[in-house]
Amino acid sequence: MNKSIKGFSKLSKEGKIEWLVNEHFENPQEARKVIETYWHADPKRQKIHDDFIENTITNFYLPLGVAPNFMINGDIISMPMAIEESSVVAAASKAAQFWLHRGGFKAEVVSTKKIGHVHFMHKGNSAKLRQFIEDIKDQFFEDSRSITANMRARGGGVTGISLVDKTFELDNYYQLEAGFETCDSMGANFINSCLEQFAKTLKAQIETSEAFTEEEKDIQIVMCILSNYTPECIVRAEVSCPVAQLDEGTGVSPKEFVEKFSRAVEIAEIEPYRAATHNKGIMNGVDAVVLATGNDFRAVEASCHTYASRKGKYSSLTHCSVKDDVFKFWIEIPLSLGVVGGITSLHPAVKLSLEMLDHPSAEQLMKAVAVSGLAQNFAALRALVTTGIQKGHMKMHLLNILNQLEATKAEIEEVRAFFENKVPHHSDVVKKFCDIRGIKSPSEISKKK
Ligand code: HMG
Repeated sequence: MNKSIKGFSKLSKEGKIEWLVNEHFENPQEARKVIETYWHADPKRQKIHDDFIENTITNFYLPLGVAPNFMINGDIISMPMAIEESSVVAAASKAAQFWLHRGGFKAEVVSTKKIGHVHFMHKGNSAKLRQFIEDIKDQFFEDSRSITANMRARGGGVTGISLVDKTFELDNYYQLEAGFETCDSMGANFINSCLEQFAKTLKAQIETSEAFTEEEKDIQIVMCILSNYTPECIVRAEVSCPVAQLDEGTGVSPKEFVEKFSRAVEIAEIEPYRAATHNKGIMNGVDAVVLATGNDFRAVEASCHTYASRKGKYSSLTHCSVKDDVFKFWIEIPLSLGVVGGITSLHPAVKLSLEMLDHPSAEQLMKAVAVSGLAQNFAALRALVTTGIQKGHMKMHLLNILNQLEATKAEIEEVRAFFENKVPHHSDVVKKFCDIRGIKSPSEISKKK
């Protein structure tokens, strides 16, 4: 199979689609129909989506759901969640409702510093370089004044610059590390622009300095880039209540529930195999809100998982304690989010989500996202240590299975009623559907068509 093409990016949208459907699909008309079905009816609005990325052919739909009843620091919000997985929104909603009657979620932003690096190689003396960087520090600020002007006016900017010596890990390798406050923006472009200016200043200053020999002046700038690891941009969220209040709907006593729940958290703290799944459940809640608000979920994922490994072993992002019969459950995660810039003012669903959250500041959004992660983890753990995950998850997934089978409304109702008090495993659902239809297997449906 050889389907390469040169100059694809230069083709018109129609040209790209024409090439694609003819080269990659057995039925080009059918493929084109799918592509066109998902275009926005208004060409002007479609153009906005086309321009988000490159080589756009159509839109990829994800559902935008809502989990209401999240009380955070006394205010009640509805959480917008963009996610494809069934039971996540239901789980978040159930956890929100549970904690609504137990004081709600408390959340605080611990720090908001972001970091970026000029990565460079230098063959000279480390102490001499360090002193030099100290001596020319003002020049970095001076040379980047025009880039930082607007951010400084908003109360942000560059918070510090220092040299990091990494030569013990890689010969001649140093970093110029800069800290940033980016206010309500995620700040990636701002940070990278500053860093590229710092690299120019560094090179120019060293080259014209009399303190360095010719060999020392030959520094190599490798790259300038922000770090998506933001361990000093931290938000913490927690819930707590007397153990006796953990009595609702678990089917076990509060004492037994808390014991098993705490054990489940401890296991995720010490066992990376479990921690990965435990944290995946947290990211169900985190990513869904991050995506709905037009933020970069890959950056958030990278940062959270690096943070989960910061002590040298991958571990849980949530923790819990029981002291004096009070249960406390909390999360602490690095979140670098923005409510301005990027696609926040362009994507209609993102604008809708931000308005749903009452136009939050970046710090308010950080709190909401952390709370969503904590709620999700609470719901998953509660299910895991009581009924098992499949009961609730499959109850929500049931509709997907029936939609795949192209079940009618009446059939859906009948199957739902049948599984009201049973776990709807995939094969059992298919069997029940076939019984109702009076067929032996779903393959008979396509034969009949
Ligand atoms: P339930 O008790 O059967 O639900 O729970 P219910 O019908 O009694 O309703 C109670 C409330 O749940 C509702 O209140 C809603 O808030 C919510 P109401 O709105 O009626 O006042 N709820 C729903 N919200 C929207 N649409 C629905 C819906 N149904 C209930 N259709 C539930 C069912 C799924 C919520 C529960 O079993 C649960 O929380 N399970 C956990 C599910 C979960 O964690 N899913 C994530 C995917 S699994 C995974 O990827 C992560 C994992 O591996 C992580 C880990 O291992 O740690 C598990």
